[in-house]
Amino acid sequence: MPDDAQAQAPLETVLKDEIIRMYQEVADRPEGEYHFYHGREAAELFGYEPRWLDRAPPGAVASFAGVGNPHLRSAIRAGETVLDLGSGAGLDAIIASWSSGPTGKVIGVDLNPTMCLKAQAHAAASGSTLQCHQGQMENIPLPDGSVDVVISNGVVNLSFRKRKVIEELFRVLRPGGRLSITDIVSAKQLSQSIVNDPKLWAS
Ligand SMILES: C[S@@+](CC[C@H](N)C(=O)[O-])C[C@H]1O[C@@H](n2cnc3c(N)ncnc32)[C@H](O)[C@@H]1O
Repeated sequence: MPDDAQAQAPLETVLKDEIIRMYQEVADRPEGEYHFYHGREAAELFGYEPRWLDRAPPGAVASFAGVGNPHLRSAIRAGETVLDLGSGAGLDAIIASWSSGPTGKVIGVDLNPTMCLKAQAHAAASGSTLQCHQGQMENIPLPDGSVDVVISNGVVNLSFRKRKVIEELFRVLRPGGRLSITDIVSAKQLSQSIVNDPKLWAS
């Protein structure tokens, strides 16, 4: 491990633990108070169509914690294989499955095993099939060139190693594959006190 990465490893572990704790809470208590938008209110704010939110299982809508709308540009076609990176409680994966259809496939990857179980249960309740792998976006548990489209919503910003995540996304995408990512970026350099605060990083 290079020196820098070695020095930062303890902080990365603390951040991961906080990220797991935070999204465990979102999975278990979607009605709780969080300092980020979530649930149906957030999805409507980001332009999700009300008919999608009526059709999806209520639990998937309630635990939605995205930051935008990756469906606006994903242009998923029937038969395609879609990866939802950081699939959370499954709302985006379920919406994607309506476009990829019975001949396509939607795969979720999430760090939090509870989120993966919820996403699979929500997909099953909505008549879709979702294979969710518990795993890390910095080491995506999928073969090279196995995905047509990647969607991701509010996830990459949580990584301590964003360059590695982007390399992984290009590794799993087929040549000519597409990415539709909605995420948070800061135009300003954040202060070290913000960067080092696990609670702020995790949300
Ligand atoms: C802000 S939530 C968004 C969830 C979902 N995309 C949505 O829109 O509701 C972030 C999700 O990313 C997952 N996550 C965080 N760090 C991750 C990592 N290193 N690898 C994979 N998933 C991760 C969290 O467990 C959580 O489910």
